[in-house]
Amino acid sequence: MASETDPSRGSSRRGFLTGGAGAAAALPLLTAAAKPGPPHPPAGAKPHMDMTLSINERDHHVSLDPRTTLLDALRDHLGLTGSKKGCDHGQCGACTVHLDGRRVLACLTLAASVQGRPVTTIEGLSQGAVLHPMQAAFIKHDAFQCGYCTPGQIMSAVACVHEGHAANDKAIREYMSGNLCRCAAYPKIVDAIREAAPQTAKLAAKRAERA
Ligand code: FES
Ligand code: FES
Repeated sequence: MASETDPSRGSSRRGFLTGGAGAAAALPLLTAAAKPGPPHPPAGAKPHMDMTLSINERDHHVSLDPRTTLLDALRDHLGLTGSKKGCDHGQCGACTVHLDGRRVLACLTLAASVQGRPVTTIEGLSQGAVLHPMQAAFIKHDAFQCGYCTPGQIMSAVACVHEGHAANDKAIREYMSGNLCRCAAYPKIVDAIREAAPQTAKLAAKRAERA
């Protein structure tokens, strides 16, 4: 049986592997190392990605870390601070916005994933100075205390009506259960949604006709 060292050949397999083949394998690496490569980014620099975000019917061109959430893009890069950061973990609903007309949690959505898709935030709900019926109803019914959860509540409430989930108080409570209110304004929130539901549905139908 051949041994690691074969004196009859005057060299060993290990010697060949570590010497000849190793050197041959290292040659391209050495050659490559000798050529100047692309410049390295400065230490700590994060890669950025150019993207176009369509927010409230307006295009915004931004360059962001691809890991940026839609919520951070809105608040920290576009100055749209109406959407609130409550938990940043998908548990409170304070960051609710509409994407393609459906409610989503902006803290769990990557900005890069919504490029070219219409996003509506609380800032885009009114028509100029004219409040959306849901906004007006929240004010009329005093459906908030500190107001921190309110933008998310209103965006969810509008979606709730569009989804056909606001037919009665039980359905409203069920389909608004993802939006937490630490001030416990729940009874008044339900009152506001019940009252604004017919007008909200009418407005949505009108906008769909125009589109
Ligand atoms: Fe997004 Fe709480 S901040 S769910
Ligand atoms: Fe304060 Fe809802 S109004 S958290």
